[in-house]
Amino acid sequence: MNYKRIPWWEPQIGSASEREYIEKVFTDNYANEGKLTTQFEEKIAKALGIKHAVATTSGTNAIFLALKAMGVGHGDEVIVPDATFIATANAVTLTGATPILVDIDPKDLNINIAAAKTAITKKTKAIVPVHVTGRGADMESILIFAREHNLIIVEDAAEAFFSKHKGKYLGTWGDAGCFSFSAAKTITTGQGGMIVTNNIELYEKLKPLKDQGRPIRGTGGDDAHNTIGFNFKYTDLQAALGLGQFKLVGKRTTRMKRNYVMYRESLKNIPGFKIFDIDLKQGGVPQWVDALVDRRDELDKYLNSFNIDCRRYWKPIHQQKAYPMSDETFPNSTKYLPKALWLPSAFTLTDEDVNTVIGYIKDFYKKK
Ligand SMILES: Cc1ncc(COP(=O)(O)O)c(C=O)c1O
Repeated sequence: MNYKRIPWWEPQIGSASEREYIEKVFTDNYANEGKLTTQFEEKIAKALGIKHAVATTSGTNAIFLALKAMGVGHGDEVIVPDATFIATANAVTLTGATPILVDIDPKDLNINIAAAKTAITKKTKAIVPVHVTGRGADMESILIFAREHNLIIVEDAAEAFFSKHKGKYLGTWGDAGCFSFSAAKTITTGQGGMIVTNNIELYEKLKPLKDQGRPIRGTGGDDAHNTIGFNFKYTDLQAALGLGQFKLVGKRTTRMKRNYVMYRESLKNIPGFKIFDIDLKQGGVPQWVDALVDRRDELDKYLNSFNIDCRRYWKPIHQQKAYPMSDETFPNSTKYLPKALWLPSAFTLTDEDVNTVIGYIKDFYKKK
């Protein structure tokens, strides 16, 4: 019996570097969005090789702001894959536009371009491809498709921080890319999100949109508010955590890749159990390790009885009461999501932990 709990994921905060940055927040007596947020934005933009980065309160709001700043709103339709965290669809709904769900590709659980083609109407204004678990959606085809139909591309790269597709960072392919710093991500600042773009006009719209329409922040008194905006500002308290953890990204992603390789190598010959491919050589980073699994819920319960936590995949969005539609239009998400499982994937795992999980998975398929 494995008595140590092996988590599906666990965040890690409190490094010496984070503490130094937090100390700076205290010394400066400035917790609101300020210099540290700018530093965090600049660090991320530079590391991704993109011109601009704008921090905000969450990944969901990053998608919302990017779409809204590019004019998406009431009367528009936005194509969204049926297999994603519901935040993707909700961000579209928040703009006033309608999310149009489309089916996925079973090989990577990412958006199916053939299905997206059938969803085009006169109202289609944008597409939000999601890079599920850090696996890049087929961005080459999406770029062609978007060009043909004059669509805005906002990449939901919430799960693809510093992951590449064909050697190019995810989040930097479309008009804008959106990241999340929620608890189960490579860097967590509690909550938080980032929009990246090479488009200066978009950048200049995003800043006032997240700050009450102010192009320049003043005192909060007689400032000029030239457009309508809201309060989706980040804080330097969060940026302190982000800046401190930024130094650990390489170490963390190396461990995440090692988890993936260990599982893939040891579990490749089990019938009814298939780890999804990700192209590590082209720079892919598996945010988490996922598999298509026979008797998924039984396996999950079995591992859980040995203190091993997995995470079951999302229900297809069309099966949620918030966005109800019939299964017929979504044969792949309907069939495959109930078989998909995230294995323990934390960057805090040791080789011993991963081998323990591998051992119990092998036992499960031997016994049953
Ligand atoms: C695919 C996907 N999109 C969007 C989000 C939303 O990000 P957040 O939780 O930071 O709002 C998440 C993560 O939670 C996600 O996994």
